[in-house]
Amino acid sequence: MCGIVGYIGKRDSQNILLEGLKKLEYRGYDSAGLAIHTSSGLELRKSKGRISELENRLEAQPLAGSAGIGHTRWATHGKPSDANSHPHTDNDMKISVVHNGIIENHLQLKEELELCGYQFISETDTEVISHLIAHHYEGDLTEAVRKAVSQVRGAYAIAVLSEHEPDKLVAVRWASPLIIGVGEGENFIGSDIPAILEHTRNVYILNDGEMAVLTREGVKLMTLEGNFIAKQLFRIDWDLMVAEKNGFDSFMLKEIHDQPRAYEDTMRGRIEARSTIVLPGIELSEVQIRGLKQIHMVACGTAYHAALVGKTVIERLTRIPVEVDLASEYRYRMPVIRKNTLVIAVSQSGETADTLAAMREAKQWGARVMAITNVIGSSVAREADDCLFTLAGPEIAVASTKAYSSQLIAFYLLGIFMAQSLETLDQATQIELITMLERLPAQVEDMLKGNMEAVRQIAEQIAGHNHLFFIGRGLDYSLAMEASLKLKEISYLHSEAYAAGELKHGSLALVEDGTPVIALATQELLLEKTVSNIKEVKARGAYVIAFALEGNTELEKTADQVIYVPRTFSLFTPALAVVPLQLLAYYTASIRGNDVDKPRNLAKSVTVE
Ligand code: F6R
Repeated sequence: MCGIVGYIGKRDSQNILLEGLKKLEYRGYDSAGLAIHTSSGLELRKSKGRISELENRLEAQPLAGSAGIGHTRWATHGKPSDANSHPHTDNDMKISVVHNGIIENHLQLKEELELCGYQFISETDTEVISHLIAHHYEGDLTEAVRKAVSQVRGAYAIAVLSEHEPDKLVAVRWASPLIIGVGEGENFIGSDIPAILEHTRNVYILNDGEMAVLTREGVKLMTLEGNFIAKQLFRIDWDLMVAEKNGFDSFMLKEIHDQPRAYEDTMRGRIEARSTIVLPGIELSEVQIRGLKQIHMVACGTAYHAALVGKTVIERLTRIPVEVDLASEYRYRMPVIRKNTLVIAVSQSGETADTLAAMREAKQWGARVMAITNVIGSSVAREADDCLFTLAGPEIAVASTKAYSSQLIAFYLLGIFMAQSLETLDQATQIELITMLERLPAQVEDMLKGNMEAVRQIAEQIAGHNHLFFIGRGLDYSLAMEASLKLKEISYLHSEAYAAGELKHGSLALVEDGTPVIALATQELLLEKTVSNIKEVKARGAYVIAFALEGNTELEKTADQVIYVPRTFSLFTPALAVVPLQLLAYYTASIRGNDVDKPRNLAKSVTVE
């Protein structure tokens, strides 16, 4: 849940590390720090707060040196403070360590180390690693790191810089992401690609149990047992622009505007002759698809909401029954996994601990596991039997937008792909669906170019309220859950999503004069029913803002305001309707003066249970 960087080369490392950390701030931002080998030895600068605080400190007391490591933190053990900030060192200040993950047995190790005379100055789990390395150091840093990590249990991506051997960095990974960037006369460590993309496009993606020793001259890769390994360099095609704000005032707004490209990229190469879906990462054969008895989907947060849409899509197109579970619940409810159960794990980051645990549980019971993820080389991708990558590009804002909508596109592709094997769609319908699917990017583009001022005005109206409702039926209900989460997480307004028909069974009591109710009414077949529910809340004084399909102007007679969404195939509507709903959350949060990219208490990648 933190970001780590490392640099060794000929250039001054301070700004390279700082810039790298800024690209990783989405992984955590409650404190930051650097350790650099300077002419006076190992020197540290750390600071509670955003990376800008660290930057201020470095302006006053810069560090000069061409090898260093850095960290941006999201607290798990010990509150955000200067002392708890990384890097951590041994008592002699000879060894510095940055760490992303959790050391589960840190208390026991701490006790043992204290008995040996080591003194702890922070409340973190990480500090045990620096003392353990010092404890094992006998003239070989790599060996000492290897021995240290063999004693720890938990998740870690670690980078180590030591005054004993200042011309190398040692990095090691277990269950937390870590990449090594390979340059000319310089090499890099990062938790994620944007951290190093400015300097190199050639990376090694470390697997669990792998280590890297970086010098200025090269990178050696080995297992935790010390066996050297050869790995293929991975070439990153992402444009740096994609990883930056692109002129928008926030990553979230940029990422909302990225959606037409994200949709196109996710479809690219997967539609043949405008009539057939091909998914090379999916090795499920036609026979296996025909043999499927049920599908389980597991995910967290926004990805869970995408899976709810996915359920409707897959069931409608294939008639295979689908259950959707919150990943954190799935593993503890003893799910009934039969032979021929497919489990689909949905995760933007591919590193969410609960989703990974649910996948592992499913595998243990013999299920085949498919991943829908945005991060190639992520743990979810590597552990799955089949992968369907969303190609949304890096998502930096904590609140997910383009990753969610790209997950919907992935489900549309998957639904049609499976229907091909099952012959549940006739050829004409399939071609019609694919034609409408291919039209989605342009439709989103038009929506974004069109007048979104009406959405901003609605945001002005709701920004002063304390709580509001989203209601909808069918796919509109699934979308309402996502719209409500988006609003909550960045505007800090309390909102609840309800199945429109369910409100009268209790929560209608909360509706009073002026309560904003956002009614999603984009599903034509359910329109009349939803209109009746709108009337119910209107009768209790609610102020209703409806989202309806273009042409359904009769809603203007019932709702106080209507936002129109372009028409498409009914299953695809959420991929369009989500756009003004994301903007509604964005505008509301901005009006309330919140930092939309970094909502309080949240982090982008949740790698703890
Ligand atoms: C909310 C949001 C989170 C994530 C959730 C799962 O905007 O982004 O709810 O969807 O933490 O993350 P991934 O998809 O990375 O597994």
